Amino acid sequence: MRILSGIQPSGTMHIGNYLGAVRQWVSAQNPEAFYCVVDLHALTLQIEPERLRDQTVDCLAWLLAAGLDPEVCTIFVQSHVPYHSQMNWLLECVATYGELSRMTQFKEKASRQEGYRVGLLTYPVLMAGDILLYSTEEVPVGDDQIQHLELTRDIAERFNNRYGETFVVPVGVAAPTSARVMDFQDPTRKMSKSVASALGLIYLNDEASEIDKKIMKAVTDTDNEVRFDWEKKPGLSNLLEMFASFTGETPAGVAERYTRYGDLKKDLAEIVIDALTPIARRYREIRADEGELRTLAAHGAQKAMDVAGPLYRRAATAMGL
Ligand code: TYM
Repeated sequence: MRILSGIQPSGTMHIGNYLGAVRQWVSAQNPEAFYCVVDLHALTLQIEPERLRDQTVDCLAWLLAAGLDPEVCTIFVQSHVPYHSQMNWLLECVATYGELSRMTQFKEKASRQEGYRVGLLTYPVLMAGDILLYSTEEVPVGDDQIQHLELTRDIAERFNNRYGETFVVPVGVAAPTSARVMDFQDPTRKMSKSVASALGLIYLNDEASEIDKKIMKAVTDTDNEVRFDWEKKPGLSNLLEMFASFTGETPAGVAERYTRYGDLKKDLAEIVIDALTPIARRYREIRADEGELRTLAAHGAQKAMDVAGPLYRRAATAMGL
């Protein structure tokens, strides 16, 4: 199965990235799977150049620590494969301003800043190119990216109709549980690096005591009935989903076993600490050898170029270049 997915190197990974995306990547990895650290996407917001370079290497290390194996799948950095930028232009001439300006993420991010960059608007086109360059069949992502996947499908179909069959039309696949992990302090909002309060999200390198504190202080309601109900009990339901996604149960099944919020939170904290501690330990080992990480990225880029190059040339030729 040809798979591609990507993650922005915008700081330490959080538990939403892990449960919503990266854990799926690990179980789906195969010789036809491509996973990409999307450093070009990170340029849509202000980031210090040295920080971006550093965080790109950090992100590679986190992916390996989480269980991706470069002997099995291809792991690479987006900007190392220039076809992504080239394909972006071709597809910008297929996508329309109207459909880009309707994207929820664009509207949210643009509303939070003055003078936002054009890249913030065209970002989903770059993402479509990432996917289409690899004839991708499935894209494992968190729920917030599904709209971008729909746009990718529209762009691929429009291109194929206009210029002849060139692209595989991909499908986005969200995780069955925790596809949208919510902020612990505001469970109506997605857990996100850009808008989190200090206690709102768990990073993969949080100390056990921090994880414990964040879960114990997670906002719930006051009626004290343990029940899975997103509408009336978003805070509790967020915790139940997270619990279930670690243990393989259903959230409602977990709810049945508890009568008190405190007991549920205590057990969840233990489960999360047990799952994340070994990942953080592996991360520190892997991150210590930056030379090895760079070699791995160079090797991944070569494998990615071998697939993306011919597809780019086909698309360019089809358009008359
Ligand atoms: P990014 O870097 O914001 O997030 C990486 C992955 O983590 C998922 N995710 C979440 N899942 C559940 N709950 C959350 N709170 C949560 N926050 C983030 C995201 O859905 C994503 O799967 N545009 C993408 C990166 C990208 C990409 C691609 C993805 C660029 N090109 C091609 C797939 C295919 C992004 O910004 O993800």
